[in-house]
Amino acid sequence: MQITPLNAAIGAQVDGVDLAAGLDAEAFTAVRQAWLDHCMLLFRGQTLTPEQLTAFAARFGPLEPPPGSEKDLRADSGADEAKDMWIISNVIEDGKAIGALGDGEAEWHSDMTYLDIPPTASVLYGHEVPPYGANTWFANMYRAWDKMPADLRSEIDHRRALHNSSYTSAGELRKGMADVTDVRQAPGAVHPMVIEHPETSREALFLGRRTNAYIKDMELADSEALLDRLWDYCIGADFTYTHNWQPGDVLIWDNRSTLHRRDAFDPSHRRILWRCQISGSALPSAHAA
Ligand code: SIN
Repeated sequence: MQITPLNAAIGAQVDGVDLAAGLDAEAFTAVRQAWLDHCMLLFRGQTLTPEQLTAFAARFGPLEPPPGSEKDLRADSGADEAKDMWIISNVIEDGKAIGALGDGEAEWHSDMTYLDIPPTASVLYGHEVPPYGANTWFANMYRAWDKMPADLRSEIDHRRALHNSSYTSAGELRKGMADVTDVRQAPGAVHPMVIEHPETSREALFLGRRTNAYIKDMELADSEALLDRLWDYCIGADFTYTHNWQPGDVLIWDNRSTLHRRDAFDPSHRRILWRCQISGSALPSAHAA
């Protein structure tokens, strides 16, 4: 097995493994440690069935079933192929989307931080990918925190923020949700803005997503201004990697130390990604107030 950093900011490519064949205990320990160290791993050229993908993902912890919170998906997208596997796709069959997120841009986010216990990790497999576009970007939130100027750090290190649950990262209102008119009252979960990672004990900036975020106990205008400064800063080139998909790619990221987003793509191209998500654990503050 060879593990090669993707760039100085985030991610590593793992070569010399066949995920379909499964990893022995020693190989899995190395992969797991590389995932914690590099925040995101890429495996190229894999050929997986849904069962093989879910078996790989389940090595990282219990899987979460599809949330079914998006409108107009065929059944609970993914359930037909394998329990606990979701589909991300723009393909429409019989008038229904076969998966989530369509062909538009998905904003920067960590997965489901609007829950008290967000997932630990997510896995994506490129089953069918377009010839160009639909790049997926990742940002390293350990690095963003480590390099953050001291004046900005001091403004957030004891603070908590509200992570709103109303919209998907593609900007679609979730089933049963109402438009947000006041971010201070929006539904969601409150998390420390700087967490102590439960496995590595490293400190990481934890922002979730920009849409409808609110920094608790601040004036609304001050919260908005500070969030804008933080988001401008943390998705800079010094912290990011842009993934250009090939069929057979598998990505796994640590949801506690990363953000990700996706570029829009040509709607005439088909894109079908298979996705698994691993259940999380509580996220402690790095700086108890
Ligand atoms: C996601 O945000 O989980 C999906 C990213 C992608 O479609 O590349």
